[in-house]
Amino acid sequence: MISETEKELSDFLGQQVVKLKGERLVAAVFRLIKGVVIYQSVNRLSLEGIADFKAVIREILNSGAEATLLWSRGHFYLGGEKIPFTSKNFDLLNRTIDVFSRRGLSGLSFAEGVLQVPEKEIFRFFKVFQESEKEQCPEKMIREMLDSNSISWVDIHLKSENEENSEREPSAPQDRAKKNYLYSITAVKEVCQKLTVNEKAGVRKAKRLVQNIVDIVIEDEGIVLGLTTLKNYDNYTYNHSVNVAVLAICLGKRLGLERNSLRVLGICGLFHDLGKVMLPKEILHKKGQLDDQEWVEIRKHPLYSVGTILKLQASHELKAKIVLAPFEHHIRYDRTGYPKVEAKPDLSFFGRILAVADCYDAMTSARSYRPYPISPDQSLSLMLEKSGKDFDPVILKVFIQMMGIFPVGTVVELNTGEKGLVLGKNPDPGMLSRPRVLLLFDEKGKKLLDRQVVDLCEKEKKTGQFKRTVKRAINPKEHKINPTEYLL
Ligand SMILES: [Fe+2]
Ligand SMILES: [Fe+2]
Repeated sequence: MISETEKELSDFLGQQVVKLKGERLVAAVFRLIKGVVIYQSVNRLSLEGIADFKAVIREILNSGAEATLLWSRGHFYLGGEKIPFTSKNFDLLNRTIDVFSRRGLSGLSFAEGVLQVPEKEIFRFFKVFQESEKEQCPEKMIREMLDSNSISWVDIHLKSENEENSEREPSAPQDRAKKNYLYSITAVKEVCQKLTVNEKAGVRKAKRLVQNIVDIVIEDEGIVLGLTTLKNYDNYTYNHSVNVAVLAICLGKRLGLERNSLRVLGICGLFHDLGKVMLPKEILHKKGQLDDQEWVEIRKHPLYSVGTILKLQASHELKAKIVLAPFEHHIRYDRTGYPKVEAKPDLSFFGRILAVADCYDAMTSARSYRPYPISPDQSLSLMLEKSGKDFDPVILKVFIQMMGIFPVGTVVELNTGEKGLVLGKNPDPGMLSRPRVLLLFDEKGKKLLDRQVVDLCEKEKKTGQFKRTVKRAINPKEHKINPTEYLL
């Protein structure tokens, strides 16, 4: 009989296989489908692609999992386990879903026999798969090819009627939020890459995505706020820019800004660090502490942001609206920051909002000069110490109310000994210390397989005492928890 620990271990290993191998299998399949368009016959590069494809299938089968790739409702599944989205793989997963969707397919299954199949046959299958898009009935073309060649190492899965209909339904706000959030990262990246090589960069895509985010925030800010826990060390600037935009929009909404102003504020957030494209890469990506001269360079980025924003292909009216806040975001409320300005007009409202959103996201992210992020709750208390100095006290107060004492993504230990992840704050302003928590570990420190969401406002019926209370926030790394995995 399998012991509970063995089961737990095998479940854990199963999840790891899905995460690592699922993404690799999607990448290998995508590469082959796209590759057959470029290469007319088997060549060195397609052989490499096929070798990689076989290798990952071998690894999946050896681990005891099924090599079945299926997509449903915007997610890919390997052997029934969801492949989690990350900022690195979302583009690949979305594009591959498109490839399947256009052929009316929900996925592919590969049998062990694929490992012995000649490269030519695998190439031919993907060629037919690729060409089937032009057919009225793509699955018929693929199926006929499989039958006429007695191919049994691969099977196709059709999108059932029901599923097709459900895909056409307007997606859930959660999915819309995620898509817009992730596409915004790409939009910022594209703008930055174009600016780096002196190409003209437009803002149409960024504007549209910000508008969508504003619409979702107006509906329910909680959904989008959770996404800002997504941090990406390698792509820090892009992720950070989108996080600042989202945090600023949510904060702006709380401060009473209407839709159009929120859109402008969001674009300010998206482009506030655009000037970093002008900084030398060695400084921007330097591992370890920066020296004084390097800091002098870094401090030039708000001014550079103004220059790069003015170079964007956008109306003069829009550019005029979005240059000031990025220029001001490091000046600080008491003006002890940078750039130093002679005149003393008040900082703009948007500038003061960006300063709060920017600092919070920067503190809660790992940086090259500070490899460990500061926990969300600790970041808020450190910021509170700077109220009236670095930050406008009223705006900061509203921000803390918005985030709750334990913001989404904080890993907490409860008085019961259980540990979990904060999913959202309590709507009651008097209950800021009692968020909703996803339990991840039981009181003995054992990882929970059936995850349960608890509301810390819940009381014992008999005693009237709260069932659970946060004891302290803990470092997610200590327990190998990646908050984004549960929130995205
Ligand atoms: Fe900045
Ligand atoms: Fe920033």
